[in-house]
Amino acid sequence: MTTTIEVGMLGLGTVGSGVVSRLQQAATQIEQTQGLRLHLAAVAVNHLAAPRAVTLPLGTRLTDSIQAVVTDPKIQLVIEVMGTLEVAEQAIATALKHGKSVITANKDLIATAGDRLIAVAQRQHCDLFYEASVAGGIPILRTLTDSYATDQVTALAGIINGTANYMLSAMTAGQTYAQALAAAQTAGYAEADPTNDVLGLDTAYKLMILSRFAFGQGPTLPTLQPTGITQLTPTICQQAARSGWQVKLLAQAQPANGQLYCRVAPVAVPSQQALSQVGGVQNGVAVTSRAIGASLYTGPGAGSTATANSVLNDVIVAAHNLIHQTAGVAFNRQRQCLPVANFNQLSQAYLLFSSDSEHAWQRLALTQQVKLRRQTTNCYQTGILTPDQAQVLRANGAQLVPIMGTVTWAKSAAVKPLVVAADIAI
Ligand SMILES: NC(=O)c1ccc[n+]([C@@H]2O[C@H](COP(=O)([O-])OP(=O)(O)OC[C@H]3O[C@@H](n4cnc5c(N)ncnc54)[C@H](OP(=O)(O)O)[C@@H]3O)[C@@H](O)[C@H]2O)c1
Repeated sequence: MTTTIEVGMLGLGTVGSGVVSRLQQAATQIEQTQGLRLHLAAVAVNHLAAPRAVTLPLGTRLTDSIQAVVTDPKIQLVIEVMGTLEVAEQAIATALKHGKSVITANKDLIATAGDRLIAVAQRQHCDLFYEASVAGGIPILRTLTDSYATDQVTALAGIINGTANYMLSAMTAGQTYAQALAAAQTAGYAEADPTNDVLGLDTAYKLMILSRFAFGQGPTLPTLQPTGITQLTPTICQQAARSGWQVKLLAQAQPANGQLYCRVAPVAVPSQQALSQVGGVQNGVAVTSRAIGASLYTGPGAGSTATANSVLNDVIVAAHNLIHQTAGVAFNRQRQCLPVANFNQLSQAYLLFSSDSEHAWQRLALTQQVKLRRQTTNCYQTGILTPDQAQVLRANGAQLVPIMGTVTWAKSAAVKPLVVAADIAI
């Protein structure tokens, strides 16, 4: 038996167009394998007359009224793919209050206002799913929720911003920062305003969500203080690559010593590790857990079709929940309340970059009791540095890139938790 679910959508841009195409292309498959007919009843946009990448199916209403979609009594499920913060939060809250399940791809919103919206969804016994908000086409959130249900994640490291990863790959191949950014924009991988991508904010938002699924606890933006890629140069990327590391904008989270350590920053990933081979716009999430061990999930972190696929998978789960009246179970059921600390507060090894003379650096290393091994011209590998030693080297003009996997976990009196994150389970 086939059940029809009435769907409304907010936004018809890159992801929204992908949803329309995928809905049309996969309609028969969805009907045959899921027993569902997903009928797109209405789509809200900002500019009614703007040209569209797709033609809406006959019978789908195009409107510029979000309200008309989220309060339509016939619509059972709303897809939010318009972005924005306040407008989207208001729209999702209204849809939930009208008893509709909601699927969103909006990581900025879920990272910053997810707790409020989840509370509304729980009160209303509606689903609020957001698989596409992290790593676009990689089904990582549901994998963490379902496939790690009996396992325990012990560490997470992800390349979760395609724009930054594309730029770093291009810089490793010799392009300047400006050339790499222009190429990313020409290829449609970077937005006109790439601020959130290059400053690490987009990666931070995604880690805030991802970490809650892995550990029941996420950092806040002030605890993360993300470092982006704007200070990196092709020379740094190339010298690191020649010495056996790939510089990646990494999102990391790992519980230790009763705290959750997090970081978003450029990190030197050993070239023999599979994560270092995640290049271009690809995303990769490395999960270490007690039962499975080391796993790596890679795939497209963005793009119309891949992201739409994640959105539609959420739609199908939510549609089944509507039919079986099982909606309202939290997407993420992990919950912990650990103090959050930053990886930078721990002793670890670094790649040191400086064009000053080797003699000067070796002299400073001697006075600071720091081991320094030359890798290539102007590139050195340090021994394990305390945060204070790292600070001294930075103050003397060194650019330091932490080396993945070198953190010393011994409990240190110098490590103080930054902030206790709110007790929420998004
Ligand atoms: N692009 C990706 O690959 C990707 C991947 C993962 C997640 N996401 C997330 O998915 C969401 C959508 O991204 P996108 O790339 O598809 O954006 P986009 O191409 O800019 O499309 C946004 C759409 O939303 C509509 N819209 C914006 N503000 C509106 C408002 N106030 N009222 C009604 N409609 C409004 C726009 O209408 P008009 O067309 O009329 O202007 C447009 O159709 C964002 O949250 C993004 O972070 C995107």
